[in-house]
Formats: sequence, C-alpha cells, structure tokens
Amino acid sequence: TLQQVETIGELRRELKAARIQGKRIGFVPTMGYLHEGHLSLVEQAKQTCDLIVMSIFVNPLQFGPNEDFERYPRDLERDSRMAATAGVDLLFTPSVEEMYPTAVKTNITVSGVSEPLCGRSRPGHFDGVATVVMKLFQIVQPDFAFFGQKDAQQVAVIEQMVRDLSVPVEIIPCPIVRESDGLAMSSRNVYLAPEERKQATVLHRSLRRAKELLGDGKLPAEIRAEMVQMIQQEPLADIDYIEILTYPDLTPLDSVSSGQKLVIALAVRFGRTRLIDNLITTL
Ligand code: PAJ
Repeated sequence: TLQQVETIGELRRELKAARIQGKRIGFVPTMGYLHEGHLSLVEQAKQTCDLIVMSIFVNPLQFGPNEDFERYPRDLERDSRMAATAGVDLLFTPSVEEMYPTAVKTNITVSGVSEPLCGRSRPGHFDGVATVVMKLFQIVQPDFAFFGQKDAQQVAVIEQMVRDLSVPVEIIPCPIVRESDGLAMSSRNVYLAPEERKQATVLHRSLRRAKELLGDGKLPAEIRAEMVQMIQQEPLADIDYIEILTYPDLTPLDSVSSGQKLVIALAVRFGRTRLIDNLITTL
C-alpha cells in the first residue's frame, strides 16, 4: 500500500528502515499529472527494486520567468491513486517551502551536454533540473533512478552529473511511451486545443521519416530540411529547433560513420504549448 509523505525528515525515517532491511530502492522523480509514460518508469523499477519511491514536485528552479510554472497541471489526488495502482510504495510530495525553505545559493551546472537543444531555448533550465535531482538523490539515496528518454537531453545531463560527482546511483533510461497516433505522452499535452492536438502528430511522423532517410544514407542537413518542410505544412506549428546530434555527447554530427549513436531531436510550439520529441538510433 502506498504511503504519502510531505517532509524530508519523514521520508528519511521511512527509508532508513528499508535500507537496514537491505531493500533495493528505486526512485522515479516526476512533476506529477501522471500518465502512462511516468507509470512505465514505475513498471521498470519494479523489475529490479524492492521499494519504489516516486516524487511529485513541480520544481520552480527549472522554469524560466515567462514559462508555465504557475499553470503547470496539478492533480495530487488523481496522481496518488495512479501511483498506488502502479505499485509505488512511498510517494514524496513536498511543498516548495519544504524543498527550498531559504533562497537557493548552490547551483549545479553541467556544461557541454546542457548547452544545445533545450539548453539554448530555455536558459538555466538544466541547472534547475540538475540541482533538484541532486537534492532529491541526497534525500532518497536510491540505488537506481529511472528517467524517460522522452527527455533525452535530461538523461544525458543527469548521467554526466552522476559520473562527475560520483553519485552512488545507477541511472536507468527508459523508452518513450506514445499515444496510439504517435504523439509522445506529456503532462503538457492537456494544454493542446483539439486542432493543435491533431497537428502535433506530425512530430513523430517527421522523426520516423528522418530515421528512414538516415537509413537511405541522406546527410543530416538534407534530413533536417525535409523535417522542417513536413512540420511547416501544419499551420499551427512553430519550430523552435530540429537537430541531429551525437548521443549522449550532443555534439554536431559532421561525418556520418556507421556504428555512431545519434539523436534526432525537436522542439515545436503549437500555440502556447511547447512540445519536445526525439528518436535515438544507431547508424
Ligand atoms: P516530468 O516531466 O514529470 O517527467 C518525469 C519523468 O517521466 C522523466 O524522467 C520523463 O522523461 C519521464 N517521461 C515523461 N513523459 C514520458 C513518456 N512519454 N515516455 C517515457 N517517459 C516519460 O522530467 C521531469 O518531470 C523533471 O525535469 C524532473 C526530472 C522530475 C526534475 O524536476
């Protein structure tokens, strides 16, 4: 049965007992408004861990001043029911005051992998992510932590941080969960108006087409151009970026050599809603 705790102290007390019993602790950090994507991480965690901790915390540090922190969707009652059904043992739902009782003066910056893609469009975003994830790791001290490839750059940033700071946790990347029409599940999908929702299916179609073109030996620049054209055919789509980079280093791909792992990544706005998606593949 699920136990919900709101304070760092209470969570630490609960986890201490589990750790003494030698339980393997799996951690799934989220911002809530749960969907199948989040639940797939819990499912994965259950395969290897004895005790599953999920956090739900809409982290103000990772939102820019003109972003959607205030209107980010929240429904703790529904989330708590879904987490219980999925098999979460401990649900950590701290307030902003509990996590940040005083102004935060310590910041984690992961240079390199944080800089392209979303790092360029959302200055400071990955500092906010790295800082809160490090803090959550200190609170939970999990053996394993589960992250979705939906946020491929976030996974790269967290893996780099964990390596650099010798954080004793194993990061487990998990596949993207999609709606039946291909749209990647996201808490932000609820913002989409019906016509925007329809047009947003072009994102996954363009990624699949890009993969096909890569297989045909097309160059990144040509592929990118075709993706831009495909997406621009949807009148409500406003492209933020489309890039093909090495993964997980996220460096430009000058030559296309076989065996190279790469990510085709995009961010596109539909009205006020910014959606991201990606496809990781090996040449
Ligand atoms: P959030 O957007 O709630 O996502 C929580 C986790 O669920 C992330 O690891 C994300 O990649 C994963 N996820 C979201 N949609 C998914 C999908 N369609 N398929 C598979 N996994 C999916 O990412 C965050 O929260 C925050 O940045 C956080 C790491 C919690 C730090 O605040």
